[in-house]
Amino acid sequence: MNLIFEELIASYLDSGVGQSCDFLSSELSDGLVLNLAGHEMKNDMKSAGIGQNEDFHKDLTYRKDKIHWLETTTSNSSERLFFELIDLWISYLNQTCYAGIMKSEFHYALYEQGSFYKKHLDQFSKNDSRVFSMIMYLNANWKEGDGGELVIYKENETIKIAPSLGRMVFFDSGKYEHEVLPTSVTRMSITGWLKRS
Ligand code: OGA
Ligand code: NI
Repeated sequence: MNLIFEELIASYLDSGVGQSCDFLSSELSDGLVLNLAGHEMKNDMKSAGIGQNEDFHKDLTYRKDKIHWLETTTSNSSERLFFELIDLWISYLNQTCYAGIMKSEFHYALYEQGSFYKKHLDQFSKNDSRVFSMIMYLNANWKEGDGGELVIYKENETIKIAPSLGRMVFFDSGKYEHEVLPTSVTRMSITGWLKRS
């Protein structure tokens, strides 16, 4: 994995947005997609909120995805492999970049046809513990025209990223506003945050 971690760090240092096309293997993605579909079948994917604590609310005109948080205590083999990969990635970041990551949190996300997430920043206004945002895409057959791209607003440039299988994107949670364009097909991902506390 170290080559992929190096690719992620190099692109992050170069452009502020780290990217790799093969962070998740297709076997691991298949297993994670099955879990996500299982949660959806059991009605365990819940519409996501905005804000934290007393600011928390749900607003379907702003954000229409459904989420399910992963538990680190899981016995599911794909999720165990996923967390092993994340542990390796965090150790690599901490050792090579002194990133000081102490914690992380991840959720599955499901955007049904027509869903979107308007422009936002991932850091909460009263809490800057989220350092890096990470998104891993689980869409095997994403095609041009399917929508659902991630758009990241940098100072002088906007970047548009297709949510294709295996891809991982990472950037500073407090730095770039970003949005998910309306998708015309089911769009699946795992989103997470690396935190200092
Ligand atoms: C988020 C988010 C982007 C994506 O969940 O905060 O911005 O591409 N997701 O799914
Ligand atoms: Ni976001």
